[in-house]
Amino acid sequence: MKDKEKKTIILLITAGILFSIAAGILIFIFSHESTPSASENPSQPVTNTSSEAPVNSPIPTQEYTPKEGLNEHLPNPDNPYTVILEASEVKLIDNTASDDAYAVVYFPDISIANYENDKFILNTGVFHEKNNYIGIATIISGNFVKSGYLLSDRDETVYMSKIEKNTVQDDVSLKIINRDNPITQQEADSITGLVQLTDPDYVLDNRDDLFILNHVKEALEKLLLAADAYDASLNMHVASAHRTFETQKQSFDYWVNRRIAEENMTYAQAYEYTAGRVAIPGCSEHHNGLTLDVIGYGYMLDESSKGAPYALWLKDNSYRYGFTIRYEEGKEQYTQIMLYEPWHIRYVGLPTAYYLYTNNLSMEEFYYSLINQKYIDFEYDGYQYRYIYSQSDNIYIDTDIMEIIQYSAIASGVDGYVLLCKSK
Ligand code: DAL
Ligand code: ZN
Repeated sequence: MKDKEKKTIILLITAGILFSIAAGILIFIFSHESTPSASENPSQPVTNTSSEAPVNSPIPTQEYTPKEGLNEHLPNPDNPYTVILEASEVKLIDNTASDDAYAVVYFPDISIANYENDKFILNTGVFHEKNNYIGIATIISGNFVKSGYLLSDRDETVYMSKIEKNTVQDDVSLKIINRDNPITQQEADSITGLVQLTDPDYVLDNRDDLFILNHVKEALEKLLLAADAYDASLNMHVASAHRTFETQKQSFDYWVNRRIAEENMTYAQAYEYTAGRVAIPGCSEHHNGLTLDVIGYGYMLDESSKGAPYALWLKDNSYRYGFTIRYEEGKEQYTQIMLYEPWHIRYVGLPTAYYLYTNNLSMEEFYYSLINQKYIDFEYDGYQYRYIYSQSDNIYIDTDIMEIIQYSAIASGVDGYVLLCKSK
């Protein structure tokens, strides 16, 4: 072969090789762009490669980022009982759960599995993503707290034989209402089970517009009897109870307009000032049927009540009947109500009222602390109690050791629940 021919052949071979490499690269790029991998597509079901459960399965940590707040580290990561599970520590059991299956977490760690027969609460947060059930679980026991990813399983009895799904109804007693957590007009106006307060002994000026939930009426009457027994001259009367959205609006607008007219305020100034004393419609706890204004006869619902005998008695005794003084002095930064209202009592029930009173907590502070700590233990009347925060209302409890005595959404429109459990 001539040199020229050799060169041409070498050139052709080189061009062919380069072309093949380029084509290969292009095919590689396009094939990956047109067919997203399962890990790039969060709506793809996670496929279980074996019918035998459990199997090792990669947990798609990136796609299934847990909802904020659920998998946070607990306040004291050095606590030996506080361990945050890594995704790799949790295994997929079965991805074929039907719509009515509940999420179940499987913790392969033997030391945790041992606790299955011990005392623990499994507190799950679950959300659905197409056919997958993926969420976060928190197991809380007397000895440890572990949080981790959870996956679903049709056969919940395998891991939850002692656990029953919570059947306690949301009783809203612990549902907070404030400026940051309003309720809707529809919610405020559709409280069912209100009863009228008619007893002339304690209805102020024979008002005929005082309505409250029945169990709160019963607690109120016990409170009033006790106050009377302590000192009849306290002479307490109910000045306000449940308010509709419209009633609150009329009161709010009245005060805004009056301040504009009489105190030379701009609308914005009058609005802000008023909002610190009369809740913005939707933000008043008078909407919930759990709240009352109780006042010594002859006193006004203003600063003149500060230090009044009735106010002092309510401060140190209303908790005994399940009430909390909702707008205490010194709590303005949390409640956003700037007026100390010793007359405004809100029913939360016992032992919560006791817990708030003995710890000097507003409801806002209580929730900040509960959401941060995930659970709070305390003792009342010889029993152990535990508040648990859950972001889901799929809640399981070991009924051999504890019962749920209160269960409530934390606030309107918020993904979060509080459970109050009592040890058996
Ligand atoms: N006075 C209280 C803040 C209310 O209007 O609900
Ligand atoms: Zn009030």
